[in-house]
Amino acid sequence: MELVFATHNKNKFKEVQLLLPKHITLRSLEDIGCFDEIPETADSIEGNAILKANYVTEHYGYPCFADDTGLMVDALDGAPGVYSARYAGTEKSSEANMDKLLEELKGETHREAKFKTTIALHLEREKVLFNGIVLGEITLEKSGAEGFGYDPIFKPQGYDKTFAELPITVKNEISHRGKAIKQLIAYLKNLK
Ligand code: IMP
Repeated sequence: MELVFATHNKNKFKEVQLLLPKHITLRSLEDIGCFDEIPETADSIEGNAILKANYVTEHYGYPCFADDTGLMVDALDGAPGVYSARYAGTEKSSEANMDKLLEELKGETHREAKFKTTIALHLEREKVLFNGIVLGEITLEKSGAEGFGYDPIFKPQGYDKTFAELPITVKNEISHRGKAIKQLIAYLKNLK
């Protein structure tokens, strides 16, 4: 079975590719000739995942799935949330986003946060959503060089390392996206 993963993020693509069983051949947006900036203008994580998957099915006609992720920080009433990518500006710089978040949390001792991923799967006849959440906290400073995005400042619950210090296999086992992808895989396995 061939499925397009509607992302331009090479790190994410690699993470997900590692998780999928061999009978699913993952295609990238580049593989189908899509170099467009796919709109992410919804006001919720679910809404954005659906927008991205719709874009690929409508414009390119492939079965696909898309994900959208948000980092919710308790002390900031759930911010940056759906605005996680553009938290420090439209250039979507991970360094600037992390700097802004660390600054906002300066002096804050309650640093609980969670990542949430929604995956929207669009097959010929079905549209299904899968969610994954990981709890953790925002560290005082950046640490580690693996992963991407906010990984250097997110320490998952039960670990004393950030996502950027953990091997990708460990991150995949416990992460928001890993959990959502596991549900996607279970669903695909049950399809005829
Ligand atoms: P998007 O939904 O992939 O656009 O992600 C929204 C924001 O969350 C971007 O700033 C990403 O870099 C960040 N992000 C998404 N997934 C992860 C992750 O697994 N670790 C750290 N940051 C992430």
